[in-house]
Amino acid sequence: MSNTPTHAPTGFTHETWETFRRDGFLVIEDALDKDQVAALVAAVNKQEKPRDWNIVAVDSHFTEMIDSPSHIGYAYDVYGEMLKLLRSEYFRREPGQEIRNKWHFDGPRSTPFEVFSPRAPLRIKVGYWLTPLGHEDMGNLVYIPGSHRWPHLPQYHTHESHPQERQIIVPPGAMTLMWSGLWHRVAPNRSEFTRLNLFFEYGPSWIVSSDRGRSDPDWLSGLSRARRILMRDYDEPNDWIRLPAEDVPLYTLRPGESDLEAGQYGDHVPPQLRKRSTWLERNGML
Ligand SMILES: [Fe+2]
Repeated sequence: MSNTPTHAPTGFTHETWETFRRDGFLVIEDALDKDQVAALVAAVNKQEKPRDWNIVAVDSHFTEMIDSPSHIGYAYDVYGEMLKLLRSEYFRREPGQEIRNKWHFDGPRSTPFEVFSPRAPLRIKVGYWLTPLGHEDMGNLVYIPGSHRWPHLPQYHTHESHPQERQIIVPPGAMTLMWSGLWHRVAPNRSEFTRLNLFFEYGPSWIVSSDRGRSDPDWLSGLSRARRILMRDYDEPNDWIRLPAEDVPLYTLRPGESDLEAGQYGDHVPPQLRKRSTWLERNGML
């Protein structure tokens, strides 16, 4: 288990960020290989409930996904050094299931994230699709591209179809990224297969978790440094705002990257009190 910070895996390219910013949604096929998918399917099928939260604490296959190289670089590109796992969950949607999520967006409703941050999402939901979604009405996620800019949707809290809606059609092992605020719902599962998927949501450490209060100390102590940091479990409330010295840096700069803020601070200012630019800032993507 490594306790030395390394650089973050690759995340966005200029092109994928532009697609994500335009659509509020990004599909990465083949994010997981067959063996990874099989292990995660087995882990989901071992669980008793059809859906559960804070799953990273219940099975080691889910724990490994906290900083999975297939997605963590994308989240780090947006939230940088304050990156936090806000929520993890699995869903098992049986054939014939009619009770399912109506049109909604994730996150707060009365004063949505969009009010504060129209340029970048304050929460990104990473989805992994573990069973084939070869056609519509297999319990697919339904979304409206570009709707993360819409504060209202006449179809809200219903299953009425929208002229611009799309169902995701992806092979097992595909990953999706969803911008908080994107309108979505779930299609009925009229197939003969149970649909399995995982969600991992990320944001900055100062956004509240939505699947846990605190994590079990014994479980936390068995995690790698990066995973422990990403759970952001602090005794001192101010640590969510001003990171503790031992948690900085979460990741080092990638080869060839340089920090915009370099040279702004005297030697007397410790790393945890310095601004570290995010990939979005460094690349002028905001
Ligand atoms: Fe949702």
